[in-house]
Amino acid sequence: MPNVKLGVNIDHVATLRQARREVDPDPVSAARVARSAGADLIVCHLRQDRRHIQDRDLLALRKVLKSGLHVEMADRPEMVKIALAVKPDWVCLVPETPDEVTTEGGLDLKGSKPSGIGKTIKKLQGAGIGVSLFVDPEAVAVRMAHNLGADAVELCTAEYARSTGRRTQGTELERLELAGYLAHELKLELHAGHALDYSNVVPVAQIAGMRCLNIGFAIISRSIFMGLKPAVAEMKRLIQQQP
Ligand code: PXP
Repeated sequence: MPNVKLGVNIDHVATLRQARREVDPDPVSAARVARSAGADLIVCHLRQDRRHIQDRDLLALRKVLKSGLHVEMADRPEMVKIALAVKPDWVCLVPETPDEVTTEGGLDLKGSKPSGIGKTIKKLQGAGIGVSLFVDPEAVAVRMAHNLGADAVELCTAEYARSTGRRTQGTELERLELAGYLAHELKLELHAGHALDYSNVVPVAQIAGMRCLNIGFAIISRSIFMGLKPAVAEMKRLIQQQP
């Protein structure tokens, strides 16, 4: 059975709460339900504009989750300070721009220096936090992540998820497989995510060496109709399917 972990991103539980600035729906309760349904990690993105997850959510999540807290954030001094205080198990560094609806692709690591993002990686690792870099499925990005000292890469699956037609989808899957192979060779832990859903997740889960898939929107969307517990359980079943 593929040993792929499921990270459930609960940002959009907080999106709904923030629509009314109420206490419900509570992301911490969502995290508890997701964990009870088989989520291995709870993922959230603390954005600079705080459009969904708030600082207090991170603290509350850290209190209830003894392990498996995975936080996405931009490489900004404010965010690094928060991460060092909260100490999630993982930080995934992502690019972030104010007008984007969601993360638009992987980090541009060309020209990155050990004195820039490399320094952030070291600081976080020094606090016992595993660091992953969100990258496009390209050899140069995976190699840079390795050179900068990351523990893991999260391959951006947006292009794969957007692709239509067997041929284009096959090409995008191949890009993910090749980048995954290189990550494995470089001893980087292999994660993937973005826009994965119930119809496209299985081939990505079956990529050799895949360790973790981070999925949010599809699971939270389905949970509106069938509840969070079955929505998480079904995704977990799919990603553990035999090839
Ligand atoms: N991984 C990363 C790095 C992301 O930024 C996001 C979106 O917050 C996800 C995974 C989850 O994407 P989706 O909500 O489309 O499943």
